[in-house]
Amino acid sequence: MKKALVCSVCGYIHLKDTAPEKCPVCNASSKVFNLKDDALKTNEDIVTTGESHKKHLPVISINNVSENVQEIKVKVGELEHPMMPEHYITNIMFYADNEYVGGIALTHNLKPEGSISLNAKGKKISVIEHCNIHGDWITETTV
Ligand SMILES: [Fe+2]
Repeated sequence: MKKALVCSVCGYIHLKDTAPEKCPVCNASSKVFNLKDDALKTNEDIVTTGESHKKHLPVISINNVSENVQEIKVKVGELEHPMMPEHYITNIMFYADNEYVGGIALTHNLKPEGSISLNAKGKKISVIEHCNIHGDWITETTV
């Protein structure tokens, strides 16, 4: 588990030590952010979560579109997570050097995957997916 600041209005997870002035997703004030010790599950939770991590940890692949543009492709997860009305991946959030850069909202009609493109050269890319039942899972990689 990894601790993080969480917006109590929309569930956005902040990867920096101090709360943002406003939530970048729902615009709520910094006052609604709470530090949660168990905000994120990581690849270090594999031992305690059985097979669950295989369906939840984001799998990241990087495509070099050009020298200054990288496509960050994400699948959830190594074994595809189910997408049913009662149990599905609701969103995938992307961060570059701990700064939120964007997110994709999903419905159960879609595959649990998505991509964004940006200049990510030399940056740490973090991807967090939210499962409506099993919570938030993070994978990080350096481009
Ligand atoms: Fe799940």
